[in-house]
Amino acid sequence: MIRELNHVGLFVQDMGKSLSFYRNALGGTVTFRGVRTAGPNEIAYVRFGSGLVELISGPAPDPSWGDRGLHHLGFISDDLDADYSLLAEAGATPWRPPTQAGTGGGRVAFLLDPNGIRVELLEREGKPQASEADPPGPAVLDHFSITAANHDAATSFYGDAMGMETLPLGTGTNAAHQVSYLAMGPDVLEIHSYTPPRSGSLIGHIAFCVADVPEALNALARNGIGAAPGYPRPARGNSGSMALVHDPDGNEVELLDRLPLHGGASPSAAFGTDEQSAEVAVGR
Ligand SMILES: [Fe+2]
Ligand SMILES: [Fe+2]
Repeated sequence: MIRELNHVGLFVQDMGKSLSFYRNALGGTVTFRGVRTAGPNEIAYVRFGSGLVELISGPAPDPSWGDRGLHHLGFISDDLDADYSLLAEAGATPWRPPTQAGTGGGRVAFLLDPNGIRVELLEREGKPQASEADPPGPAVLDHFSITAANHDAATSFYGDAMGMETLPLGTGTNAAHQVSYLAMGPDVLEIHSYTPPRSGSLIGHIAFCVADVPEALNALARNGIGAAPGYPRPARGNSGSMALVHDPDGNEVELLDRLPLHGGASPSAAFGTDEQSAEVAVGR
């Protein structure tokens, strides 16, 4: 059974620059740093409320690994072999069969979802997600977006096969742009489909809730990071404002100053300076 949408995995050009962005500027907490057991890749997990961003640097582990950018969605499974088979029967394409995880902790497998998005399954001991007792930082993960050429196949795969709950939000926006939201606990997947289809990354953006978007942009500006042209602007649905910024690899990062979509911790009141750039040693 799939029991958690655990992280989005980023294949980054420069670990130092990515940590400057996600840890120092956005105020995430590094919960793991290590080197992949089977290769020279460095791996870091950065926590934002109940969600994680995984940073992977170094050379591509093999020719089929893919380009730099938003690389995969990581889910926790409590029976990796059974879930790998079930998801393959549900329309996913096997990509990497179950093996030891790159961090050395637990086992991992990858499939491609019906739209070609890389899905990682992880089987680990213990509680994999951030403890609710951990204080939230100034940014908490709200959702990951994906772009699906086949919307019905995506909602069926993540809803029926993965067991995510459909949220009554944003569906049937218009004929040219369809949006659905599926949740697993506080973690939300935003599925976009466009007619005609759009090219670009299949994983579109990472969205964070912050207490105040202009203040978050000021904090990012102190780290040399500017908003994309036209931002901040009012968010849809009269719910505060939003901004788009880009991480060091050009990945889209959305900032929203509303309550998290599906529960989970709200961000702390304000961006600080150095105290919120914490790094804790947690074996994962
Ligand atoms: Fe991962
Ligand atoms: Fe979004």
